[in-house]
Amino acid sequence: MSVNTKLYEGKAKILYSTEDPEIFLADFKDDATAFNAQKRGTISGKGTINCSISSKLFLELELSGIKTHYIDSPAPNQMLVKAVKILPIEVVVRNIAAGSLCQQTGLQLGTVLKRPLVEFYYKNDQLGDPLLTLERLLLLELATEEQVRLITHLALQVNDFLIGFFEGCGITLVDFKLEFGVNSQQQILLADEISPDTCRLWDATENDPNLRVMDKDRFRRDLGNVENAYQEVLQRVLKAVDANN
Ligand code: TMP
Ligand code: ASP
Repeated sequence: MSVNTKLYEGKAKILYSTEDPEIFLADFKDDATAFNAQKRGTISGKGTINCSISSKLFLELELSGIKTHYIDSPAPNQMLVKAVKILPIEVVVRNIAAGSLCQQTGLQLGTVLKRPLVEFYYKNDQLGDPLLTLERLLLLELATEEQVRLITHLALQVNDFLIGFFEGCGITLVDFKLEFGVNSQQQILLADEISPDTCRLWDATENDPNLRVMDKDRFRRDLGNVENAYQEVLQRVLKAVDANN
C-alpha cells in the first residue's frame, strides 16, 4: 500500500493518506509529551510498543464484537486504519480514582469507584482539553445526543473487556482514554490507540504506589524505568493473547 501525503501530525502519531481513500496509515512516534506538551521527551521504542499493544487490543476487541478502525500492522510502528473523522472528544473511563479526578475532587488516590465513571473532555490543545458537561458538548455540537449515547455504551463495553483482559495480565486497569471516529457510512468506530500512553495500568501484585505504575505516569511524574514498564506491558499482553487463542 503506497503512502501519499501527511494528513496530520499529533504528539504521538503521524497520519498519512494512502492510495485507497478509505484507508489511512498511522505512524507511531517515540515522542512523549505531558501536561499539554509543556513536558517533552522521548521514550525509546515507544512507537513500536504502543503500536503492537494497540494492534493486539483492537484485534481482541473486534473479536468481542466492538468495531474499531484497525485493519493491519504492516510494520512494528505502523498501523493501517479505516479512514474516519475523529470526534473532538476524549472519552475517559475511570474505575479507580487517580490523576485529574483526585486533583479536582479531592478523592484519595486508589479509591475504588462504585461504578465506572465516563467523562468527556474537549480535544482542544489551545483550551487545555477541558472537562465537558453534556450540555456544553451538545452546545458546541461536538457530537449528537445519539452519538454520545452510543460512545458511552461502547466505552463501558470496552472497559468491561479491558478490565478482564488486563486482569489476566496481572494488571489493574485504573482508567483510560478513548477516541471515536465516524466513517464514510456514518458508523462510529473506536479509533486512535489503547496503550500505556492512554491508560493507567498498575501491577496487580505490587502495592508500592510508585513501583506499581506501568504507564505514562512514569514519564509524567519522573518515576524512571519508563521503557521497561512499557516493554513489560507489551510482553504480558502478548502472553495473554497467545493464551486466549
Ligand atoms: P487524567 O486523570 O489526567 O484526566 O487522565 C485520565 C486518563 O486519560 C489516563 O489514563 C491518561 C489518559 N489521558 C490521555 O490519554 N491523554 C491525555 O491528554 C490526558 C490528559 C489523559
Ligand atoms: N498527551 C497529553 C499532552 O501532552 C497529556 C498526557 O498524556 O498527560 O498534552
